Amino acid sequence: MKNNRIILKKILSNKESLDILNNTAEGLNTSAVITDINGDILANIGNLDPEAAAGSFPLNIKGEKAGSAVGNKNAQVIASMINYMLAAEYNKRDLIDEVSNSYKEINLFYDFTEKILDCNSVSDIVLLTLSLIKSFIKVDTVSIMLKNDETNWIDVISAYDCDEKTVKNSIMPFNGESIAEFVMLSGNAEIINDISIDGWTAPSGGKTGSMMCAPLKIKNRVIGAINIATENISEFTSSDLKLFTILSHNAAVCVENVRLYKDLKEIFMSTVYALAETIEMRDNYTGNHTKRVMEYSCAIGETLGMEKDALEVLRLSAILHDIGKIGVRDDVLLKPSKLTNEEFALMKKHPVFGEEILRKIKGLEHVVPGVKHHHERHDGRGYPDGLKEDEIELNAKIISVADTFDAMTLDSPYRKGLDSKTAIDELIKYSGTQFDAKIVDAFIRAFPYIDMHKSNNIFKIGDDLNG
Ligand SMILES: [Fe+2]
Repeated sequence: MKNNRIILKKILSNKESLDILNNTAEGLNTSAVITDINGDILANIGNLDPEAAAGSFPLNIKGEKAGSAVGNKNAQVIASMINYMLAAEYNKRDLIDEVSNSYKEINLFYDFTEKILDCNSVSDIVLLTLSLIKSFIKVDTVSIMLKNDETNWIDVISAYDCDEKTVKNSIMPFNGESIAEFVMLSGNAEIINDISIDGWTAPSGGKTGSMMCAPLKIKNRVIGAINIATENISEFTSSDLKLFTILSHNAAVCVENVRLYKDLKEIFMSTVYALAETIEMRDNYTGNHTKRVMEYSCAIGETLGMEKDALEVLRLSAILHDIGKIGVRDDVLLKPSKLTNEEFALMKKHPVFGEEILRKIKGLEHVVPGVKHHHERHDGRGYPDGLKEDEIELNAKIISVADTFDAMTLDSPYRKGLDSKTAIDELIKYSGTQFDAKIVDAFIRAFPYIDMHKSNNIFKIGDDLNG
């Protein structure tokens, strides 16, 4: 209604339109007062004396009243001309809206396609969808639901407009009660404009009035569904659904990529662990030494504020730090008594053997410095290269502290390990000579919070599917 009045006022304020109407009125020897739907006078065509008005003729836009033309019998022609002008103006605006919407759609797709390639997790995909789609469609929540074939439940990853940076993870049973399950089974997108009337279960974690749900499909395989929802009753249109469905295709491809990447990473980590385990299996007395060195190293890295990617390299380096011991003979590696000079010289080669093994494995190049130099000393008296201070790579300095602490506290059939406090005192004693003082300090700060029971799996995947 408000728009109708604006369109009518616009026509009556246009000089060319007014000239046409006044000339027509003069030719027909008629006149008309044009009013809006409230009866306010907007124009007087042909200078009608309102007292002489004989009839009122409606002015409409698409069947909705916009105002009236009041005049004598011939004023109906004026009304018809204005109605024609109103229809033309309305269609012009419609066309502008359509072009503008198409432009926004193209922009949305461009943004989405470009940015979704950077998503490394389903959480990222949910957040990206929410931040982009809400500029186009009224939406409060975006959630992705993934069928978990192992549990036969659904993993739900949701983000809310009120708190865009937070993603909530939950699970729900696959029992056929939600619209998402219906969509997963049918493979077709749906609009639910009033969820209370349609009787569906709302997605968990939020009040829902209306929603659209589209399947996440890879070729013909449905891997889940994506929902957008509003708290209030809304009027999602078929063009909204079309737009959302196209977005869902991109989201599906990206979700699948995240899954494949996660599978690949698990295979990679399993292989890395299998490599590390070959050493542990040769020397039973080190029981889980690799795991503890990894936990200590990561705790130090986190305390130092290392970024996620750097921590990942540190973790791999710690797991593989002694891989070069594969090249050390059993009679030396497992010798319970003191090593001879010649035997010790062979043992000291294990960091270089480690480097030689790892340098050949694609994807493990970044762990080489941490492995090769984990026996260097801050004062330059370590091996294999006698590096000192900041010539030693950070990961190597960290592993050195973690490795030494674990070696000191380890019980063996030949000697009882030190208690934690005594071992930490030893680290402090050699801080600044054997060890970088900053790393010892970080270890001491981190130590009370290290929970060795938090991970029973040495090769836990740092970045899960959702996070
Ligand atoms: Fe070592």
